[in-house]
Amino acid sequence: MFEVEANVQLGSLNTLKLECIAECYVRVSTTGELQEALSEARLRSANINVLGGGSNLILNRYLPGMTIHMGLKGRELLGESADDVVVRLQAGEEWHETVLWANAEGYFGLENLALIPGSVGAAPVQNIGAYGVEIAQMIECVHVVDVRSGDIRALTADECCFSYRDSLFKTSEGKHLIIWAVDLRLSKRPVVNTSYPALREAVPHNTATPSDVLTAVVAVRQSKLPDPSVEANVGSFFKNPIVDRVTAEHLKGDYPDMPQYPVDANTVKLSAAWMIDQLGWRGVEEFGVSVSEKHALVVINRSARYASEVIEFTDKITSSVSEKYSVSLDREPELVGID
Ligand code: EPU
Repeated sequence: MFEVEANVQLGSLNTLKLECIAECYVRVSTTGELQEALSEARLRSANINVLGGGSNLILNRYLPGMTIHMGLKGRELLGESADDVVVRLQAGEEWHETVLWANAEGYFGLENLALIPGSVGAAPVQNIGAYGVEIAQMIECVHVVDVRSGDIRALTADECCFSYRDSLFKTSEGKHLIIWAVDLRLSKRPVVNTSYPALREAVPHNTATPSDVLTAVVAVRQSKLPDPSVEANVGSFFKNPIVDRVTAEHLKGDYPDMPQYPVDANTVKLSAAWMIDQLGWRGVEEFGVSVSEKHALVVINRSARYASEVIEFTDKITSSVSEKYSVSLDREPELVGID
């Protein structure tokens, strides 16, 4: 049985370590408890906030309504063929532990996504991706509860509308859906993807096993990205902006060294880290918030207490990028609550 608590401090439950009081807080461990928490919230006419690993959130000082902390655990083999398996992962499982588990079981495909902070339930929301792989490629279906009715549904990958760091769950049509489990189709045959330049350098030989790739991804991330358990951060703070091809060509003319990655025939992805770095932000600190020395896309909270300090500092970065390159940067983590 779960317990609804009032005025709970969420400082230790978000990786930016920002102070935030949740009006009501409940940790749920089963889908039954999740549905009960939702009916309780409906009775109180409280809005719902969902908390996973707290690694993709910027929490404002106060979070009105009911904050549901997803504690559902479990990993289960649903089906198996000669080539692949389908596994069901409960939302509260830690993502990196799940990557290690899958690799150890001989279920391959997740290695490039090692060390991404957060929980399984949060992974489809922003379609986590790294080193040339996105979770969307492995998704068989996503199990959700509809906040409005409490009904349970399963969505196919197509229905989730995945794109770069984006999905249905970030839109107004998907906002009322809470992910409680994710089914992934993983390969039983060793598959490796070392197409990403940093990974190709780390795993140069073509006899690499999935475990070699896993080891290399962990080493590359540890060398290039700050560890959220040591320095408070939410991974990439900004998304890489996607612009049309003509804009990209103009920018290439003005800045020949600017990294650009074609998305399709009409659009090009730019490197937010490169622009932030060129503008001299790496290592700069204000209001107790800084741009990581290791990677210009990562913002570290050194001593700030509240989201407003993070936002004030990072808005300066956004403005300077917009002034110099006429490109607008969007935040990757979601800002929630009120100041
Ligand atoms: N760069 C700089 N300065 C830096 C860091 C990078 O100029 O401080 C340049 C690099 O030289 C390179 C380019 O930026 O040309 C791209 O850098 P990187 O390979 O590190 O990739 P990224 O686009 O900055 C994305 C993801 C990361 C993921 C890496 C590797 C986004 C928003 N971020 O970063 O995801 O680990 O690719 O695949 O797409 C995360 O989401 O938490 C995360 C870390």
